[in-house]
Amino acid sequence: MMIQKYAVRLKRFGKSLQLRLFLILILVGILPIYIVKFGILRNYENQAAGQRAGLIVSRCQMISRQLIDSGYLNGAESPVIETELNQLGDLWSGRVVVLNRNFRILRDTFDIDEDKILIAEEVLKSFNGTPGYKYNHTERFLEVTVPVRLTEADNVEGLLIMSVPTDDIIDGKRELSSNILILQITLIVIMLVIAFYASRILARPFSKVTASLDERSAFLEEDISIPGYTETELLAEAYNRMRQRMRAQEESRQEFVSNVSHELKTPLTSMKVLSDSLVAQEDAPVELYREFMSDIAEEIDRENKIITDLLSLVKMDRKSADINIRETNINDLIALILKRLRPIAARQNVELVQENDRPVFAEVDETKLTLAITNLVENGIKYNKPDGWVHVSLNSDNSFFYVKVEDSGIGIPEESLPKIFERFYRVDKSHSREIGGTGLGLAITRSAVEMHHGAVRCYSREGEGTTFTIRIPLKYSPQEELTDE
Ligand SMILES: Nc1ncnc2c1ncn2[C@@H]1O[C@H](COP(=O)(O)OP(=O)(O)O)[C@@H](O)[C@H]1O
Ligand SMILES: [Mg+2]
Repeated sequence: MMIQKYAVRLKRFGKSLQLRLFLILILVGILPIYIVKFGILRNYENQAAGQRAGLIVSRCQMISRQLIDSGYLNGAESPVIETELNQLGDLWSGRVVVLNRNFRILRDTFDIDEDKILIAEEVLKSFNGTPGYKYNHTERFLEVTVPVRLTEADNVEGLLIMSVPTDDIIDGKRELSSNILILQITLIVIMLVIAFYASRILARPFSKVTASLDERSAFLEEDISIPGYTETELLAEAYNRMRQRMRAQEESRQEFVSNVSHELKTPLTSMKVLSDSLVAQEDAPVELYREFMSDIAEEIDRENKIITDLLSLVKMDRKSADINIRETNINDLIALILKRLRPIAARQNVELVQENDRPVFAEVDETKLTLAITNLVENGIKYNKPDGWVHVSLNSDNSFFYVKVEDSGIGIPEESLPKIFERFYRVDKSHSREIGGTGLGLAITRSAVEMHHGAVRCYSREGEGTTFTIRIPLKYSPQEELTDE
């Protein structure tokens, strides 16, 4: 239990912005320390070697004159020179080699290579007049080659080659290194502390986001503001937008529930009034009973219709969950709808015309599309004038088919046009009620069309007539988002 909790926390920390900032800060802070340390040590070693070489060169140059004057380079014996050379070697506990003009080794204070010929790159270079040195870092020795001559202008008479161990330089370097290490550790500790706090401070606005969302998550009441970063500010803004959408949704849901209750209550109230008045009359005539009972039956029908419509709407609102797509002949579908509605149209003396179109096949949910078109044609009949007409036409292009339902009816006032698709909205409530409307028809139509990723539009002029058009893709694509022009 405990372990699990810590594991989760550790995993979270592993993915946190804070940890990332911390690591970056450490890297940025510590890397330079290492680079500087490396540079300092390298520099120290090279400088020490160069300095020593310089000392050796000047020492060698000091005995150059003696070497020439004593004729040592030409083979003359000289105890003085011998001592000088030995002293020179002892000074740095190194080895001194004297070379004559023919590259022959005249003297080796280590007595190893005497009489041998030595030809090497540095040797040749120094015979041209320039002293040189080679520092061997791994073998830890310094080799200095010095030309022997009287002045810069004179010829080079021979060479003095000196190789000295540089253990002391390495030792010095090591000492320096350990001094730096102390500094380094101190700096790293400081860096860690700075990185820890800085990363915490840098990541803090994000903790604030969580905190302020937690605080208000139960309520959708007020806007939040999380200044600190542009990112957190944007996050807050996005949250506020979402909150507004949710609130609008919540409000519309509440409104819907109260509308539903109201609509369902109306027929019940009528029935109650009718039955109460029958009960109240001592000896009501049978005719009155019959009349009131048929009124009550009408109210029951109405109640039934509202519930049926609500169920259709709810089913539709569940989006593509239970859509039943099949290749369908749309012409036949429309013909069937009109056939069913013809008796109602005849009662209103409204002419129903299916305009002849070329055949259209499309992938649709037959039941839902039938519901959508039926509602439009029904409206065309219901909100018509005596001797009016309703024309239904079908068209298609490469990707869509279009159903147009046109009527010669009473039309819709301009200010009502944006609202007619809302649930329970009716331009004239009492008129709609009279002719059996629930105010849900167009909401059902729109839901059905949107389930097919289509669109429905309405054009109307009050007193002249109304045209509804539906546009639906011929091929159904489940993933496609709802498109709105
Ligand atoms: N063809 C039409 N002509 C005139 N008004 C219409 C037409 N279609 C819809 N309306 C108006 O839009 C409202 C909403 O339509 P609808 O959702 O089908 O509800 P209902 O038909 O049940 O009243 C109707 O009450 C009516 O006022
Ligand atoms: Mg209707």
